[in-house]
This record gives sequence, C-alpha cells and structure tokens, in this order.
Amino acid sequence: MRPKTAYHDDLGDLFAEHAETSPYNAWIDRPALLDLAGDVKERRVLDVGCGAGHHAAGFMARGAEVVGVDGSATLLRHARARLGDGVELWLHDLEQPLDFLADASFDDVVCALMIHHIDNRRGLLSELLRVLRPSGRLLLSTTHPTADWRHFGGSYHSSEWVDLDLGGSGASIHYQRATLELLLGELLGAGFALDRLVEPRPVPGFREIDRERYERLSTAPTFLALRLVKPGA
Ligand SMILES: C[S@@+](CC[C@H](N)C(=O)[O-])C[C@H]1O[C@@H](n2cnc3c(N)ncnc32)[C@H](O)[C@@H]1O
Repeated sequence: MRPKTAYHDDLGDLFAEHAETSPYNAWIDRPALLDLAGDVKERRVLDVGCGAGHHAAGFMARGAEVVGVDGSATLLRHARARLGDGVELWLHDLEQPLDFLADASFDDVVCALMIHHIDNRRGLLSELLRVLRPSGRLLLSTTHPTADWRHFGGSYHSSEWVDLDLGGSGASIHYQRATLELLLGELLGAGFALDRLVEPRPVPGFREIDRERYERLSTAPTFLALRLVKPGA
C-alpha cells in the first residue's frame, strides 16, 4: 500500500499517540460506536482499519472476540502491544478482497473512521457483507459531511480527496469527502439496511477534563456513526 497518510512509520507512532488522547477519538467516536454496539459479550467482531487497536480493546473489555485488519505495520505494532499476543491481526490493504476471512464468520464489523480512506468502497462493502453472518451488524463511523464542508469549503456536494492536518503535528490524513447522500447510497446500494444513525457529541466525562472544548465540540458536527444490518436469511 502506498504510504500516503499519517499512519506509517514515525507518523504512525504519532498517530497512535494522537488516537489515544484526542477528544475526537477518545470522547466522541469510540463511545459512540460502543453505545451503538450495546452488549457484545461473546460476539465475534472484525475491526477493519483497526489502527492502534483502541476500538478493539474497548470491544474486548466487553467480552467480544476481535480480529483486526489494517494496512499500517506501524499501527499494527501498537495494536499488538495493546491487545496482546492472542489476538488475530492481519496486515492487509483494504482496497483488496479479504480472501483470508471465511463467509458469514463474524457477528459484527467495526469500521471506525476508515471508509473515507478507501477508493474501492464498493469492493470493501461487498466483502464486509460476505464475512458477516445474516443479521450481523456493520458499526461504521466517518467524518460528518458538514464538518468537512465547514473546514474545506467549496461545494457541499464535493467528493474531492482532501488532506487534513492532524492538530499541528506536521502529519496529515488523506481522504475523500462524501455527502450523506453519497455515503448512504453506497451503504444501502451494497445491500446493508440502516438501523440507526447518530451525530455523536462528546460524552460528559470530557467536560471534567476540558470544559471549554467540551462546550465547543458539543455544538459542532464532527462525525457520523451508523449501525447497519446485513439482511437475515
Ligand atoms: C483514522 S485511522 C482509524 C483507526 C482506528 N479505526 C481508530 O478509530 O482508532 C484510519 C485507519 O485506516 C487504515 N487504513 C487506511 N487506508 C487503508 C487501506 N487501504 N488498507 C488498510 N488500512 C487502511 C489506517 O492505517 C488507519 O489505521
């Protein structure tokens, strides 16, 4: 995979640290997906774009068995340290088929802040549908289109590839903007049914840490989090 984002080598180490403490990850995205997931005890969960394993750790702490896939060897090293030797982790380019995973072998797929990096979304979504069992769930988060519009400007309807600075760190991430119409069109077009959509705000614990930022992030769109279902047999 061409290292075009902040996720590789020394920038990968920086990103792993960023994902640990950034309020966007720790206080908005991760709690939102855990909330959408509900009880995951003894469920088999695939985490695509698992990065440094933060979501996987949260799901494992609630009793799930997690398999992680990511295209960054650097981030998988962080995931291994966080999750331990017993967890199955795959280094793989998610633009390509998931041939190493069996049909209908997962109860849930977590796809956190990753889909917007993928060009071949049709191929990836069809693979996620294949590895989910009937009635299995896709828990997906991505950038909120109005947050992107506010940040990058231009037309709301743009689906251009953009580079977002990572908090003044010198690293940036490369991804494709998508309107709600485009995102939902692709997910429903792939065969998923929409069960729930939320526009997550920071959870109250963050207020104790940084009240001013909590108030600010509570009024602004940041991410979308969706629970989708593979239609039953
Ligand atoms: C914003 S990070 C999210 C990481 C993790 N899901 C989290 O929420 O902490 C995006 C992740 O997608 C991975 N990624 C991006 N493009 C990829 C590709 N083509 N194949 C595999 N992984 C990819 C990156 O390596 C990175 O770990």
